[in-house]
Amino acid sequence: MMGKNGMIKWVVLLSVFLFTATAFAGGHGHGAKKDIKKGILLVAFGSSIPEAQVAFINIAKQVKKEFKGVPIRWAYTSVIIRNKLKKQGQILDSVAMALAKMKDDGFSHVAVQSLHTIRGEEFEDLEKTVNAFAHLPDGFEKIIVGNPLLSSQKDIEKTADAIIANIPKKRKKKEAVVLMGHGSPHPSNAFYTALMFNLQKKDKNIFVGTVEGAPEVDEISIMLKKANIKKAYLMPFMSVAGDHARNDMAGDEDDSWKSILTKEGIKCETVLKGTAEYNNMIAIWTGHLKDVMAHF
Ligand code: CO
Repeated sequence: MMGKNGMIKWVVLLSVFLFTATAFAGGHGHGAKKDIKKGILLVAFGSSIPEAQVAFINIAKQVKKEFKGVPIRWAYTSVIIRNKLKKQGQILDSVAMALAKMKDDGFSHVAVQSLHTIRGEEFEDLEKTVNAFAHLPDGFEKIIVGNPLLSSQKDIEKTADAIIANIPKKRKKKEAVVLMGHGSPHPSNAFYTALMFNLQKKDKNIFVGTVEGAPEVDEISIMLKKANIKKAYLMPFMSVAGDHARNDMAGDEDDSWKSILTKEGIKCETVLKGTAEYNNMIAIWTGHLKDVMAHF
């Protein structure tokens, strides 16, 4: 049997041992706290049209100005566009590839900023990929996705104001502005009509249609005729003025929006500038990025 003093001696020794062991484990091995290295990954759909690169360069410039010293990397979500550019000798990273590289390069905190317009399929896939990386052993300490352009009522209102500010100054109030969104079978497609509602509260002759979702150009055409519109400015509501803007909107083929509306007696003027070419639009995306960076 141990005396009272002997027992205390053992308890003290055991405590010292445990304390030392814990401190040792904390300073080395798997529990080690890595150095903080913040990074930004900008994720766009991508575009194969060289002129569209203006938009990406502009975004990078704005982000660099806003978050000085934080390295910026890029990833493109469209497989078709990455393959197309690969044939031209340009290797662009997918999100998974870009994140794998950032992990290897020792980044601890990564802000993944979506440059998409709505929370559609592309955005959901991005979230899934990021989620997988968030659960890797020995992975990033923090990795957060920033929202696309239209994610809340506030975003819709800010976007509506930015659009109105970007309309060519020579446009008269009785002339229409028709925006071409991409559109999607995804439920988030409803953001386009929500945007049109908010725009029309401020300027009743602004319309929003889509190429691959609703409302379609035929519905917009009916609305224009009801409003007795004689002239319309066609503007892409996509981050870059790429293939859809140049061909489906402003092209000379019979099924382009310009041709369809012209046939209805509406004079069309096209503006080939993507939303990411306007600083007031970029500010909405960088606002979302700022929300993410606030967690780091
Ligand atoms: Co498309």
